[in-house]
Amino acid sequence: MAAAVTSDARWRLEVHTDAEDPRRQLIDDARNGLLSAPRWISSKYFYDDAGCALYDQITELPEYYPARTEIEILHRCLAGIIDRYQPAELVELGAGASPKTRVLLDAMGGSGRAVHYIPLDVAAPALRRASSALCADYPRLTIHAIAADFTQHLDVVPSPTSGTGRLVAFLGGTFGNIAPSQQRAFLNGIAALLGPGDAALIGVDPATDPERTRRAYDDASGVTAQFNRNILHVMNRDLNADFPIHEFGHVARWVPEAHRVEMRLRADAEMVVHIGALACDIAIAAGEEILTEICGKFARTQIDAIAGEAGLEVCEWHTDPDELFALSVVRRIPAS
Ligand code: AVJ
Repeated sequence: MAAAVTSDARWRLEVHTDAEDPRRQLIDDARNGLLSAPRWISSKYFYDDAGCALYDQITELPEYYPARTEIEILHRCLAGIIDRYQPAELVELGAGASPKTRVLLDAMGGSGRAVHYIPLDVAAPALRRASSALCADYPRLTIHAIAADFTQHLDVVPSPTSGTGRLVAFLGGTFGNIAPSQQRAFLNGIAALLGPGDAALIGVDPATDPERTRRAYDDASGVTAQFNRNILHVMNRDLNADFPIHEFGHVARWVPEAHRVEMRLRADAEMVVHIGALACDIAIAAGEEILTEICGKFARTQIDAIAGEAGLEVCEWHTDPDELFALSVVRRIPAS
């Protein structure tokens, strides 16, 4: 694995890619997803600069309740959590550049203590911008940012050091974007990041009202549709492909048996798309759909069960009064 490093007095960024050729992973993913039936594109490719900006707009939409509800819960419950665990180090997975990071840092550094922050995200430019802005605003902060895919490279995060309490944050309901077959390995990875007295915060959407949840992914103003189609811009640019972006419709469907929302792009018409980086053409039928994201939703009992398999236990579960969203606090089950 290659690691390029940029650094400043108080922050550094490490960029991890899978091979000497940084395009290798994208090409492998594209070959696996776009040449298979049904076709799919990994949701990590949403987050180029334009996609990050669109996601920020999504968090402001009236229909998109998860982000703002989670922040409300954090404002209400974080002081207690910090008081119970006393962390001096924050590992944030899928950190992006969101306002919740500041809520976490404010609570941790409240008593004037120095905080070490380790954000991990696929979007290197967003990490670079966030790191320099955070250092300017938090004089006692040090940052070790890591650009990597958290479903594959949790092992690049430094191991916990005894004596330094660590908090791992995986917020926004992003846990739901992980394929069910990868959830166990991911949570094993989280467990390995925790020392015996450490805790992880995992945000989950219980989807108590499925139609309301579906609408959070199908807003009236069409921002989510634009976010979804942006993944084709990314493919066109980075794979030298020619998807006719405006011939794809946005689909957000509630799938009751999987208890999740699925986002897809549906071809309006029959087409042949050239994918230069794969040196091939693919024929897409009218009405054919490409899966771009799964957004799994979980009740507490499900999280208890999935976490338990990875040697973790849910020791706190905080919700808003309408139970639209939940913040779970998990830790390693002590060896008895
Ligand atoms: C915050 C990344 C989990 O699945 O709700 C928002 C991404 N996709 N609208 C989510 C997203 C469509 C979001 N995550």
